[in-house]
Amino acid sequence: MHADLVIYNIGLLLTSKDLELVRGKDMNKISSYTNAFIAIKDGKILEVGEGDYKEYLNDFTFMHNANGNLVIPGLIDSHTHLVHYGSRENEFSKLRVGVPYLDILKQGGGIHSTVKSTREATFEQLYLKSKKSLDQMLLFGVTTVEAKSGYGLNLETETKQLEVAKKLNQNHPVDIISTYLGAHTVSKEYLNNKQGYIEALVQDINTIKEKDLATFIDVFCEDSVFNIKDSKYILEQGKLKGLIPKIHADEIVSLGGAGLAVDLKASSADHLMAINSEDIIKLSKSNVVANLLPSTSFYLNKDYAPARKLIDSNCIVSISSDYNPGSSPSENFQLSMQLAANKLKMSSNEILNAATINAAYNLRITKNVGSIEKGKDADIVIMDCKNLDYLMYHYGINHTLDVFKKGEVVVRDKEIV
Ligand code: NIG
Ligand code: FE
Repeated sequence: MHADLVIYNIGLLLTSKDLELVRGKDMNKISSYTNAFIAIKDGKILEVGEGDYKEYLNDFTFMHNANGNLVIPGLIDSHTHLVHYGSRENEFSKLRVGVPYLDILKQGGGIHSTVKSTREATFEQLYLKSKKSLDQMLLFGVTTVEAKSGYGLNLETETKQLEVAKKLNQNHPVDIISTYLGAHTVSKEYLNNKQGYIEALVQDINTIKEKDLATFIDVFCEDSVFNIKDSKYILEQGKLKGLIPKIHADEIVSLGGAGLAVDLKASSADHLMAINSEDIIKLSKSNVVANLLPSTSFYLNKDYAPARKLIDSNCIVSISSDYNPGSSPSENFQLSMQLAANKLKMSSNEILNAATINAAYNLRITKNVGSIEKGKDADIVIMDCKNLDYLMYHYGINHTLDVFKKGEVVVRDKEIV
């Protein structure tokens, strides 16, 4: 069969192969092709191989020269707070001199400050700011992103955030998968009535489902925010109403959120900087993804998650940026990957798997994305380097040269097409 597009002269192509996810020791395995090509038809991958590709060509086939560079699957950022308004550089100077993140929140700042800006923003303002961030992510090679609500804390603004994500998903090449995070913190209106707030946010799931605005539900399970009992109740209600649970777990204080994620068969337990050893074992015997967010540890000057322990115990690990205005104000997903190398002590292969196939598994989309394999979407990134170790080593810059989304070139020579 003839291809619409052939990407040729690929110096090195790295991808997971024949797997839905990788865990433990297998995270270090990756399939590699040298002097490779990818043949693409109707947005899907027709063939991946080495050497001769002439049989896929006809007069109409478009040819794209990878110039001997490294090619990897489109990156998947499976934990972001993409849609929000305003910024919090005023808090950065406090964090820097040691004021705790949770103290700023308790004093009415932090998430509350972004809630205020997000409530005040028009749909259009929110859309344009989020689009700008999504463009940045795409330029770094991200082709699929998870986006949480959680800066409305009332039905009106939570749905506004999710509607913005839905519209961006329709208009922007990057695919967006949405998560309802009404349980980000108790809204100011309910400050002395946490149970009342929980009941209200659980009620709101009905509208979110009716309007088809989210796939997942998430809770900030944290000291002085939602405890284990609250989180269990909220996620169970979400599950009953057809959403898949996720948890912001053991980020600052060790509450046992990761263990709860296993009990609820959540798709992921995220952060895990303060996870306890029993829960590492519990996670390792489950299919819950340990989603690690090293950019957050970096920005908050916190401990890093015990990635080596998690991988060596046979867990499924993914990496995300956690892009948000309060604990990870950077869309640079490659930086998260580089921090995973230097701070989480993960190997380059483990990181690539964590940012592609395991992230896809986390978002329940491995059937179509997460690897460069026959039949999957042609979501492909050409990097301006020759090997994966170099990408981890030369940090802080953007290595992405060209990006293909479903077989269409969407970034060329570092610019959005
Ligand atoms: O993942 N921890 C809760 N949520 C975000 C931070 C939100 C914020 O500070 O605005 C996080 O770190
Ligand atoms: Fe987060």
